[in-house]
Amino acid sequence: MNLSAANHRIPLNDGNSIPVIGLGTYSNPAVTPKGTCLESVKLAIDSGYRHIDGAYIYFNEHEVGEAIREKIAEGKVKREDIFYCGKLWATSHVPEMVRPTLEKTLKTLKLDYVDLYIVEIPMAFKPGNEIYPRDENGKWLYHKSDLCATWEALEACKEAGLVKSLGVSNFNRRQLELILNKPGLKYKPVSNQVECHPYFTQTKLLKFCQQHDIVIVGYSPLGTSRDPYWVNVSCPPLLKDTLLNALGEKYSKTAAQIALRFNVQRGVVVIPKSFNPERIQENFQIFDFSLTEEEMKDIAALNKNVRFVEMLMWIDHPEYPFHDEY
Ligand SMILES: NC(=O)c1ccc[n+]([C@@H]2O[C@H](COP(=O)([O-])OP(=O)(O)OC[C@H]3O[C@@H](n4cnc5c(N)ncnc54)[C@H](OP(=O)(O)O)[C@@H]3O)[C@@H](O)[C@H]2O)c1
Repeated sequence: MNLSAANHRIPLNDGNSIPVIGLGTYSNPAVTPKGTCLESVKLAIDSGYRHIDGAYIYFNEHEVGEAIREKIAEGKVKREDIFYCGKLWATSHVPEMVRPTLEKTLKTLKLDYVDLYIVEIPMAFKPGNEIYPRDENGKWLYHKSDLCATWEALEACKEAGLVKSLGVSNFNRRQLELILNKPGLKYKPVSNQVECHPYFTQTKLLKFCQQHDIVIVGYSPLGTSRDPYWVNVSCPPLLKDTLLNALGEKYSKTAAQIALRFNVQRGVVVIPKSFNPERIQENFQIFDFSLTEEEMKDIAALNKNVRFVEMLMWIDHPEYPFHDEY
């Protein structure tokens, strides 16, 4: 794969590039002490990470922004060294909300632009400030999706200089094709952020995306935090896998490092989340070894085709993405 050894970046279809490993920053806000995200992002930058994956709905974007700005002020990095991915939430899909929502993220981060802005899920919810809108009976309040109209509003944000690259997340092939075949398309999505790890290898979607010059960014690359509130915990824990641990022993690495290396070696960007100092550093140490072709095949054969992140609560949304095979 085309991995520049110097800075571990993959070219994007719009001329920009993306670091192959980023720090994921989702952590249940109810149980995560204030300041943990700030310290973790600062340590990640000190440890070599240049890519941070965040979102307005993670409720810690202010800490991410503060960490980035502190590291720039210290002279550790320049703004252009950092790649920040933000996300457009489902309640802001209507075109007139897209730019103000991105501007709100920029204000929270206190940055002038984000490097990548992605449609977080293809399902639109009732527009407004309520992030998880439901009626008095607890029924989800959806909104008719018009992904092409949302995309056009995002294209305008890129032209206004608020974002360098545009992408999507949790899109299936049909939803990607909707954008790719949109009359008058100005900018193709550069990436599709989806669940991807040895138990859910996304072979077909990866092939389709590679054919269209779209990078797959693999979320939950370590098999998630296994928070039963949103994770399908009936799927066994990835990091306990026998093969991943055996390969870890062979290379003096951990199962986590083998799982991350597997994806990176097949051209998938990984965004492992850790707010633990040792594990933040551990997850970045994946560039000093490589897996053999045979080992890559053996790991790929672990695929169970079962998602940890099923989003079943929205299964009746007309744009629920996971009914399709891929
Ligand atoms: N677009 C989407 O819909 C979407 C969905 C899900 C996630 N994401 C993004 O993807 C990121 C990563 O996914 P994720 O948070 O679901 O899960 P993940 O990165 O697969 O796993 C995170 C969990 O693994 C632990 N961990 C981290 N490094 C480890 C290591 N070396 N050994 C053992 N355990 C380790 C973390 O705990 P510690 O913090 O204690 O280390 C945490 O509990 C998110 O943070 C978010 O940025 C996006």
